[in-house]
Amino acid sequence: MINRPAPLVLKVNGATHLVSAAADTPLLYLLRNDLALNGPKFGCGLGECGACTVLLDGMPTRACVTTAQVAVGREITTLEGLGTRAALHPVQQAFIEEQAAQCGYCLNGMIMTAKALLDRDPRPSVATIQRELSRNLCRCGTHVEIVRAVQRAAELLAAHEGARA
Ligand code: FES
Ligand code: FES
Repeated sequence: MINRPAPLVLKVNGATHLVSAAADTPLLYLLRNDLALNGPKFGCGLGECGACTVLLDGMPTRACVTTAQVAVGREITTLEGLGTRAALHPVQQAFIEEQAAQCGYCLNGMIMTAKALLDRDPRPSVATIQRELSRNLCRCGTHVEIVRAVQRAAELLAAHEGARA
């Protein structure tokens, strides 16, 4: 008889999913292969580049080196959970406006890390942005535009808050 693992319950972008997988399966595999959430990218697979970043209870987390078991019971947010094509999240909007991409492969990690930063610190200094993004690698060298995009995102978020007040 084949022993199948008990389904894991993952809460992703506000929806609950039952996924049949071993508890030590990397979260990134389940997001991309089982749930068709391809925002998080497979880069190094070693926790080094940041392309696979998701938020776990709001904290930037490398999904390639995070097991599914660790994510059970936590709020998982992927790029798809931020905004839609028709209603972009201000951080996504800012990255487009600043044209902060060449190949775009790193941008999932940059945007998710920036989102978490701006949730904690709505007006970060350039030095803080650089420090927070320093472990997210961009092989295309668009760091200047990326930092500008995070600054613009802070402005857009402040404008949204002002409009709601
Ligand atoms: S793919 Fe996860 S850190 Fe590089
Ligand atoms: S835009 Fe290509 S890796 Fe960053």
